Amino acid sequence: MKIGIKLCVLALLCCLFCFNGVVVGGRGRGRGRGSLPQPKTGSSAEFNVNSFGARGDGKTDDSKAFEDAWKAACGSTGTAKLLIPKATYLIGPVKFTGPCKNVESIIVQMQGELKAVTDLSKYPSDDWVEFGWVEGLTMIGSGTFDGQGASAWPSNKCPTNAKCKLLPTNVKFVSMTKTVVQGITSLNSKFFHIALVECKDFKGSGIKISAPGNSPNTDGIHVERSTDVYISQSVIGTGDDCISIGQGNSHITVTGVTCGPGHGISVGSLGKYPDEKDVNGLVVRDCTISGTMNGIRIKTWANSPASSAARNMTFENIVMNNVANPIIIDQTYCPFTSCASMAPSRVKLSDISFKNIRGTSSSPVAVTLECSKGSPCQNINLQDVHLDLSSSGTLAKSSCHNVQAKYSGTQIPPPCA
Ligand SMILES: *[C@@H]1O[C@H](CO)[C@@H](O)[C@H](O)[C@H]1NC(C)=O
Repeated sequence: MKIGIKLCVLALLCCLFCFNGVVVGGRGRGRGRGSLPQPKTGSSAEFNVNSFGARGDGKTDDSKAFEDAWKAACGSTGTAKLLIPKATYLIGPVKFTGPCKNVESIIVQMQGELKAVTDLSKYPSDDWVEFGWVEGLTMIGSGTFDGQGASAWPSNKCPTNAKCKLLPTNVKFVSMTKTVVQGITSLNSKFFHIALVECKDFKGSGIKISAPGNSPNTDGIHVERSTDVYISQSVIGTGDDCISIGQGNSHITVTGVTCGPGHGISVGSLGKYPDEKDVNGLVVRDCTISGTMNGIRIKTWANSPASSAARNMTFENIVMNNVANPIIIDQTYCPFTSCASMAPSRVKLSDISFKNIRGTSSSPVAVTLECSKGSPCQNINLQDVHLDLSSSGTLAKSSCHNVQAKYSGTQIPPPCA
């Protein structure tokens, strides 16, 4: 009996192997398994959005076909592949939601170009494409998420008003576990390009992100309340932060990322809301940042309503090209006079290392360590920092408050006295 089952499974695996590449019927039903128990392992089915009625003419709203294809993929067994072929699809707000109980993994094969509907009244929330509550999703392909943000940017009041309405994020991942995102492009998002909220075990690589340097709040990749996130080998040029690490994150690694234009790699802003969780364990390594407002910035609000902490962060082997503030800790953040008072920030910063940071600063102050008077920074280390002014002549400067940093190796600009 046992041997029988084993043979059966073997035969099935062999079968799948032999027919690998054959397109399995659109809706994944009626595959003639008869009354045999459906195997959870080894089976696979492909769900092509075109088989669910997507037109891909760039003019017809294909949202429903995408959601129907997702529902079928999510409701299947084994490995499910959602195929978005090479074509241009006009898409309104769509949610790809799990849990997908019987699938082992979902592959989103992203070959097409998705264009976001431009009419803002069609968006009930601040999402365009959202993936949520799925375990084991892989999104791979050379496809594009084009937010068509240019017409929306003028209606974004967030740069001047703290109580602004948020425009839709291009691609949001919410409460996802074991996610891989590889090769995709995000263009001209209305708001953030990619956002991770409460994700666990996320690997992003080969991601290309592009929007004009003056587009508002078009952060490249925003990460919040997430754990074990690994972002590598990606190119991000946008109007706001290249990568922003918000509150509640732990074990975040960023390597081999190229940034610019934009605001650079940012931790924060932290300390705006009362219920924020700590940030613990960030490594940013082997990155190149060019023509941005900031290089590495850690930013916390003045007058923060509660205390929190950000600790254990290492920034290593970073090349800065013509960056206005290559290294900046700013704990007095309070844009457009939106805080009730300038009471010191209650975000505690500690165990932060900057190692081998080289290149040029476009402003005279290349290193700013502006820590909180209420909770001074602790254990800040600078090792081998060499930042010249882009326009030659004088030497770059450092500026420090409420911190006694430790210095080793090369130090240009010279350390704070
Ligand atoms: C510091 O961060 C690193 C990298 O995320 C992590 O491996 C390590 O466990 C953290 N250390 C502490 C004390 O949390």
